[in-house]
Amino acid sequence: MLSSMASQKRLFTGLQPSGQLHIGNYFGALLPTVEMFRQNQGLIMIADYHALTTVKDASTLRENIISVAKDYLAAGINLDNAIIFKQSDVSEHTELAWILECLVTVPFLMQAHAYKDKVAKGLEANAGLFNYPMLMAADILLYDTDIVPVGQDQRQHVEYAREAATKFNAAYDETFKEPAEQIQKQVAVVPGTDGQKMSKSYKNTIPLFGAKDEISKAVMSIVTGTGGETPINVHAIHLLVRGALTNNFSDKKDGEEFSQLYSQNKNNYKLLKEALIEDLEKLIAPMRVKRDAITDEEVKKVLVDGARKAKALASAKMADVRKKIGVTL
Ligand code: ADP
Ligand code: TRP
Repeated sequence: MLSSMASQKRLFTGLQPSGQLHIGNYFGALLPTVEMFRQNQGLIMIADYHALTTVKDASTLRENIISVAKDYLAAGINLDNAIIFKQSDVSEHTELAWILECLVTVPFLMQAHAYKDKVAKGLEANAGLFNYPMLMAADILLYDTDIVPVGQDQRQHVEYAREAATKFNAAYDETFKEPAEQIQKQVAVVPGTDGQKMSKSYKNTIPLFGAKDEISKAVMSIVTGTGGETPINVHAIHLLVRGALTNNFSDKKDGEEFSQLYSQNKNNYKLLKEALIEDLEKLIAPMRVKRDAITDEEVKKVLVDGARKAKALASAKMADVRKKIGVTL
């Protein structure tokens, strides 16, 4: 169970189960989360009901849920500090979302960047997508969360959660803590094989848990540009990978060796790409072995256990909320 020591800050984060992770997700989200949960306690939620705003195929959703849970476990999340669960297992989330929706206005929700961006990209403007920020506010507020580690794109959603807490506390009584976002240190955006931001929507990814030949093929296709002696996209990715392998170059020698690799092999793109493939393999192989050994049954067990613990916290909070709003007679 989570510690309730006053000095401990409680973390809460979530990830939508929306497909195979790439190394941009690893350096931008998964690795920072694993690191934060080494020192702090909290909850990691697989946002399957949020994913329902876009994923409409049952077997895809089922596979993605299992897959993202395996990714967290293989990346080394510390289960002594983290409760991992899926949103749909704790019905208090959708229940509280409704109550919060009754406190905010349509124009307020219409200002959400994520909603506007998704609709601008042609996604269906379903009501779930519109109410998305209040379900996310419920996720966060149910657990007296102090800190929400997220990427820059989620900053406004955490502001919405704070606003929902303030509105509830003002309308009824002091009930919810106001959470603070912690924007992951900007691991410079990881470039994809075409030099744009690596993203599953651009089909320019290096899969995190792909087979070695899949990864090699992706690396070999990285655009190197013309004219420069150093292939900047290869170098940017390599710096992160070598950094992860050497504990962020904690030994000066590692840093020198890496600089020399690039200074002594100017224009030799093939050799540098092969060196990157080798380092990626060193980083990923142990995680891949660990991931392959995790069975679906084990994942389900972790999630059932997580749901039980999350439910205990959420139902206590909801009992208080129900009393405050006047539905407990
Ligand atoms: P995608 O762009 O592939 O759809 P998501 O939007 O699902 O990725 O992002 C999930 C998490 O991974 C977010 O926290 C996001 O900030 C991080 N992330 C995604 N792509 C990158 C990237 N290229 N570089 C750094 N972080 C990234
Ligand atoms: N909206 C987040 C994303 O797309 C996922 C998410 C859902 C979340 N609920 C959350 C993140 C609560 C942090 C806290 O990345």
